[in-house]
Amino acid sequence: MFMYKSSIGKKFVQAVSGAFLIIFLLLHGTINFFSVIDTFTGKFGAADGLFQKGCEFMALPIVDIMVPILALGFIIHIGYGIWLSVQNIHARGGLKRYEVPNKGAADSWSSTNMFILGIVIFGLLAFHLTHFWAKMQLLDFTGGEAENPYMLLLQTFKSPWILAFYVIWFVALFLHLAHGFWSMFQTVGWNSQIWFKRLKVIGIIVAAIIVILFVATAINAFVQAHFLQPDLLPHLMGM
Ligand code: HEM
Repeated sequence: MFMYKSSIGKKFVQAVSGAFLIIFLLLHGTINFFSVIDTFTGKFGAADGLFQKGCEFMALPIVDIMVPILALGFIIHIGYGIWLSVQNIHARGGLKRYEVPNKGAADSWSSTNMFILGIVIFGLLAFHLTHFWAKMQLLDFTGGEAENPYMLLLQTFKSPWILAFYVIWFVALFLHLAHGFWSMFQTVGWNSQIWFKRLKVIGIIVAAIIVILFVATAINAFVQAHFLQPDLLPHLMGM
């Protein structure tokens, strides 16, 4: 009832599901970044490359069990996010709240726009899943064979347009995470004056680490696809 009725209860659900998704993003970003390390160790595309091993780890049955839990984490976070935003709009007197000239300090650009950022992130997540998940885990689940993850990296990021969409996605993710991280601690009661500033800085650092892992992966794949692909193709085909 607490989760359903009180606004703090809803924010609490939002904070816990957000923390869970941040942990997922740290793991996901690290495994993706293995493809950058593979480039420097000459193992991009190799069967014993770190990225390949990371993808194999994510395909283990014990990790597969996490898939519905992860999906639930996203659904709860998005569902409560919409609910909280609609209530905030009503509480502040409808959409006209944007006309108020003096907003509080905590009501920063990303605070006001967490909902819009969430929509951008969710929309592009659907686009992203068609590039990788649908060709790997979904194929595995449906009895097919997952495609080579290095090949998918090259195919996806070869297009400068797709790279640009991903970069927009990462910028939205950075703003959403930087604010969300700090807000999560506010919700659970860490709101002393000293920690207020510290948590803002820590939030920016955590968001930057996650997004740098993704940006490096995408740009590295773009460079590989354009400058190194001919050497790599036979290697990848032989896997
Ligand atoms: C350079 C950026 C990214 C790359 C190269 C990438 C790559 C991948 C790959 C290879 C998979 C399939 C894993 C498998 O099926 O075994 C996957 C799945 C997934 N990705 Fe990403 N990803 C990126 C960014 C992101 C971001 C920013 C998010 C979230 C905001 C995200 C969310 C997901 C989710 C929810 C799945 C499905 C669950 C899973 O298989 O782990 N990805 N991604």
